[in-house]
Amino acid sequence: MNPPVDATTTDAWGRLRALADGFAPDLRAWFDADPGRVDRLTFTAADLHVDLSKGLFDDDVLHALLALADEVGLVERRDAMLRGDHVNATEDRAVLHTALRLPADTTGARRLHVDGQDVVADVHAVLARVYAFADKVRSGEWTGATGERIRTVVNIGIGGSDLGPVMAYEALAPYRQPGLECRFISNIDPTDAATTLAGLDPASTLFIVSSKTFGTLETLTNARLCKAWLLDGLPDADADTAVAQHFVAVSTALDKVAEFGIDPDNAFGFWDWVGGRYSFDSAIGTSLVVAIGPERFAELLAGMHAVDEHFRTTDLAHNVPVLMGLLNVWYADFLGSQTHAVLPYSQLLHRFPAYLQQLTMESNGKGVRWDGTPVTAGTGEIFWGEPGTNGQHAFYQLIHQGTRLVPADFIAFATPAYPLADEVDGRRQDVHELFLANFLAQTRALAFGRTADEVRADGTPERIVAARVFTGNRPTTSIMAPELTPSVLGQLVALYEHITFTQGVVWGIDSFDQWGVELGKKLAQQVGPAVAGDETALSAQDASTRALLAYYQEHRRR
Ligand code: F6P
Repeated sequence: MNPPVDATTTDAWGRLRALADGFAPDLRAWFDADPGRVDRLTFTAADLHVDLSKGLFDDDVLHALLALADEVGLVERRDAMLRGDHVNATEDRAVLHTALRLPADTTGARRLHVDGQDVVADVHAVLARVYAFADKVRSGEWTGATGERIRTVVNIGIGGSDLGPVMAYEALAPYRQPGLECRFISNIDPTDAATTLAGLDPASTLFIVSSKTFGTLETLTNARLCKAWLLDGLPDADADTAVAQHFVAVSTALDKVAEFGIDPDNAFGFWDWVGGRYSFDSAIGTSLVVAIGPERFAELLAGMHAVDEHFRTTDLAHNVPVLMGLLNVWYADFLGSQTHAVLPYSQLLHRFPAYLQQLTMESNGKGVRWDGTPVTAGTGEIFWGEPGTNGQHAFYQLIHQGTRLVPADFIAFATPAYPLADEVDGRRQDVHELFLANFLAQTRALAFGRTADEVRADGTPERIVAARVFTGNRPTTSIMAPELTPSVLGQLVALYEHITFTQGVVWGIDSFDQWGVELGKKLAQQVGPAVAGDETALSAQDASTRALLAYYQEHRRR
């Protein structure tokens, strides 16, 4: 693997620094002076309509960002990833989540034979098994140990083995099969298992243990709790039969699945070249396939593939994920933004920001580059968000008038999932139109603000004029699509995957490892015996940990 180019030493970086020095964006003036700005800065990727015109950049900045992409070798690295080179340098692995959505009839070089594996054939062989399983559950052919059909599927997983499936299950609620519910257990807080299982009938409940490594403490603990709950609830069933009929697993470690007691015939595999946070479109999405059915899941994969193709084939100046990734670098490294808000105007996407947090922050929250040298620029913004309009009544105040720059992506759909109408004073009001009006109003207010003179013109008393001024020039990207279908959801996910990749390449980091989660896991094992009262383990702790443990011992109700 070539060493990363140090972006901060490139000509383009120097140019961007010069442009940022004294940068005085004025979106009102830019829009007035340049009637072509919106057309020029609106792009299409598959069904996604992406308007970058309310971003804080001009043509000089854009050209310098594109030059930066050239100088750091973005195209070469993208192609290396797509052809299966080991771009995950610290784990010496290929990174091929894009192969999970290659069509079965892919031919030529895109067919991908990596490290001796016919990737496309293997992907579709597993998909066929997942689809057959899902069909059996959906049709009622798959029954529990007492012969009852399955009514609830509980996915047990955490991180990438949870966030993607939950996010998509919520987002695609209108596509779910009635009478078949999915629930999700992730946290090792026993509250999660207790409340998720509450009210369920073991006879009609099926568990999917989802874990890439099958070694994750939370998931294995929860899987054991669920196994005990199942066996307690089915006292007359033979234990092996009950586990075989009520437990399936998804993992790359099929040997460990067998050790846990799950029938290998009921296990779906995937591969080490799929990162956990890039995995919901692998067999990790089995709960989603059960919920929405194979046909809809295939549409989701096709949507992802469409954006992959856009990313692979579109020149950088029109390549939406590349442009969005480069702009994020501009905001973070040159204009000083620390965070990035994602604000879906769709209640169905209420878990999308949480999903993106793992995708972006576990990928790009790194302090060293892929060759181990320290990064030389700020990396990994903090991603966060909530659906509009709820956020408008909570934190938008800070985005509009606070002292920090918060670039924000606004996402909306032309057609609502639930078209409801309201009636006010005899007038019919399409509620989705009210919702969209808010989406449009917010990005407009953020971009163009309100001057002191405009505030005064409303008759505002002078003493509160300053408080009512909106400076504007707060950058937003508006993403619209016809409707939140499975395909469009897949497109959105692939878009953010490639934005994340683009930023990682500029920063020279390995966006596919996650060593930063290891120390905490290790220390939890060391602290565990101390929590249980082991004196030797207790004395090995630092003073603060010992004091907190003393508080615990004193206050725990037994
Ligand atoms: O601890 C972080 C992590 O490794 C994530 O990257 C991953 O998505 C999650 O844990 C769950 O891992 P697994 O699927 O192996 O249980």
